[in-house]
Amino acid sequence: MEPRNPSEISELFCYDLPTRPLEGAGKILVSGASGYIGGRLVPELLARGYKVKAIVRGDPLAYKNTWPGAEVTRADALRKEDLRQALSGIEIAYYLIHSLHLGAKEFEKADILAACNFREIAQEQGLKRIIYLGGLGDVRSKLSSHLRSRAEVAAALRKGKVPVTVLRAAVIIGSGSASYEIIQHLVRTLPVIFVPGWARNKCQPVGVRDVIKYLVGALEAPRTCGESFDIGGRDVLTYEEMLRIFSRLLHKTTLFLPLPLVPLKWYAYFASLLTPVPHSISRCLLEGLKNEVICRNDAIKSLLPFEPLSYKEQIVRALSREEQDRVSTRWSDAYHPYYEFSLKLNEIKAPANYTVSYHLFTQKSAEGIFRSFCRIGGRRGWFYDNWLWRLRGTIDRIFLGAGTIRGRKSYSHLKINDVVDFFRVEDIQENRRLLLRAEMKIPGRAWLEFKVDEEKDIRKLSVIAYYNTRSILGKIYWYACLPLHHFVFQRLLDGIEKKG
Ligand SMILES: NC(=O)c1ccc[n+]([C@@H]2O[C@H](COP(=O)([O-])OP(=O)(O)OC[C@H]3O[C@@H](n4cnc5c(N)ncnc54)[C@H](OP(=O)(O)O)[C@@H]3O)[C@@H](O)[C@H]2O)c1
Repeated sequence: MEPRNPSEISELFCYDLPTRPLEGAGKILVSGASGYIGGRLVPELLARGYKVKAIVRGDPLAYKNTWPGAEVTRADALRKEDLRQALSGIEIAYYLIHSLHLGAKEFEKADILAACNFREIAQEQGLKRIIYLGGLGDVRSKLSSHLRSRAEVAAALRKGKVPVTVLRAAVIIGSGSASYEIIQHLVRTLPVIFVPGWARNKCQPVGVRDVIKYLVGALEAPRTCGESFDIGGRDVLTYEEMLRIFSRLLHKTTLFLPLPLVPLKWYAYFASLLTPVPHSISRCLLEGLKNEVICRNDAIKSLLPFEPLSYKEQIVRALSREEQDRVSTRWSDAYHPYYEFSLKLNEIKAPANYTVSYHLFTQKSAEGIFRSFCRIGGRRGWFYDNWLWRLRGTIDRIFLGAGTIRGRKSYSHLKINDVVDFFRVEDIQENRRLLLRAEMKIPGRAWLEFKVDEEKDIRKLSVIAYYNTRSILGKIYWYACLPLHHFVFQRLLDGIEKKG
């Protein structure tokens, strides 16, 4: 199906793909659909006229408006029964499952188990093809745990009878990608960048739009079935060159000084303090910089002949997407590691044992008030006392929490599961309610609710903090924060009302 109008064309990555949509492909399954790549692949497939079944671990209803037309179903790849139901009736599946959020100790085990389950159930359900996006890196060399795991997942999937197309990519650059945000924040915040020895290794960054084109193209070019391909952008660069080019594009004067002996562990820790990407992810990604990740086989070029973007073009497109507030997926979209334990406020057995609520009455409209509290956090901040919120965020980051530096994907709109600094949206009801679940390091579970209620011809705006703890430390924390909450929440209400 051709895109219909020029604005739609500019939104789509695959409009100039040299392949045609596959006839009779049946329903295409996208696993890892809530992730950075999966979330961009689903709309492209829908726009090309495919029927799509997306699997997620969260609430499928949360994706109702994100991918109209797609069937969204809940499945955890660690549970074979879930996969059996999800893969029933499917012939072609994308495998984009990855658990990097679990951190260095946990993700490898989880990823290999998920891949083995997927292979087994795919074979049992008679799938005809799997398409997997993995990582570049020479498997004969000593790879970082992250790159090794990408290769192990490919090998695990290929052990079955279902043919697997493997696409291997290095760093993916696009608005919202973890690597892009790390580079951007380092360049924006540091006047002096110390360059470790491994920053001279070579990499072939690829733009997210080209990755999506290769993924869709692999589906539409039957000769890719069962084969492995390296995919990359136009340039081969060292990581230092990537930082320098970014700095020049931002018209910044950055001093680059060699610092050959800095241990990667320290670098990863400081990178996580200065960038929105949490330590669990940045450490795994930075470890991978010790390996050269460039394309060794260019067979994909003859099957999918299009010119990929240069590194500069990738950056410029990402910057302009951010500028226009059109970041469609972000690394933070995949769930927090503790998602299984993050019971919703309405799911906890006993009501939250500590609550505090503040409210004010206003003549302003419910729409205005709702719009105002949906703009909190990120680059706009928290109306007043931003330094206090930022201080709390920095303390959280020092202890490897999410921190306020995590920001938000869009500064103008929110949906369920989006992050807002160290919170995540748990519920949102148009012109009524925003419920945020805390993901900072605290001895308990916490939520912050914003509500606007109609009372005759006046509106009541409330901010309510809920806290659930059983530990002594948790109780001390609550009472220690109370005076601060009193001060901060009152002013937060004023700020919301003023901008409403
Ligand atoms: N992004 C990059 O820069 C990059 C670069 C090179 C290669 N790649 C490769 O591209 C692939 C996709 O990466 P990505 O960046 O899109 O990852 P991502 O944003 O971290 O998303 C991972 C996805 O996997 C899902 N998932 C994790 N464990 C699962 C389980 N047990 N059952 C079902 N779903 C599960 C997550 O769902 P939840 O939301 O429920 O957690 C999420 O949708 C990976 O193989 C990665 O190696 C990515």
